[in-house]
Amino acid sequence: MSAPQILNHPVIDDYMAKLRYKECSPEDFRRFVRQIAMLMVPYATSNLPTRSCSVDTPLETASTRVLDEPLILCPILRAGLGLLDGFLTLLPQASVAHIGLARNEETLTPEPYYFNCPSRLSEAEVIVLDPMLATGGSASEAISELKKHGAKKLRFVCIVAAPEGLDTLQSNHPDVPILAANLDRGLNEHGYILPGLGDAGDRIFGTE
Ligand code: PRP
Ligand code: URA
Repeated sequence: MSAPQILNHPVIDDYMAKLRYKECSPEDFRRFVRQIAMLMVPYATSNLPTRSCSVDTPLETASTRVLDEPLILCPILRAGLGLLDGFLTLLPQASVAHIGLARNEETLTPEPYYFNCPSRLSEAEVIVLDPMLATGGSASEAISELKKHGAKKLRFVCIVAAPEGLDTLQSNHPDVPILAANLDRGLNEHGYILPGLGDAGDRIFGTE
């Protein structure tokens, strides 16, 4: 099991300050989430496997390397969709899996409602996307479902993690590396991350 990577990156944190602000409009919220996603891509992909190849430059043949595909991005609906576009902008060759999970606001357990995955799941590097890791129930469930369908190489990317979510996800899936932009203090009695972002799905889609 590797320790979760918490970025605390100066540029991402500058966006985080804007994203956390309660008066941030859905339009701006979506834009900041997308920009944070793009800034996280190099960290989320830094150890992806590559294979060597040669390319003819105008002067000579260069030995270089390219990504060893396939690569699958898997946003957890809905809020994970907010991260998808930023990842796809830099990784346009990726396929996309969708997992629909809605957290029951009383029990705080995730209720599955949709699953659609590309083939080749078992060979692919799968990057699961969700801005919020709160209790860790949704991320754990999504990863269990992907493993059930054959996924073997997974990583999880979120914007804000709570210590409770990190513990749960690590104990349920110790093989899955976790990358978060920020680690927050904890959860309130309703399972919301403090200080957090509020309800990320509602803020991305303007459904508050
Ligand atoms: C939010 C969030 C995560 C989940 C995190 O989704 O996007 O998927 O809650 O909470 P957890 O770690 O306690 O499971 P939600 O179920 O509210 O659905 P939404 O994305 O449609 O808003
Ligand atoms: N889901 C969210 O969108 N926000 C939280 O703080 C916790 C779960």
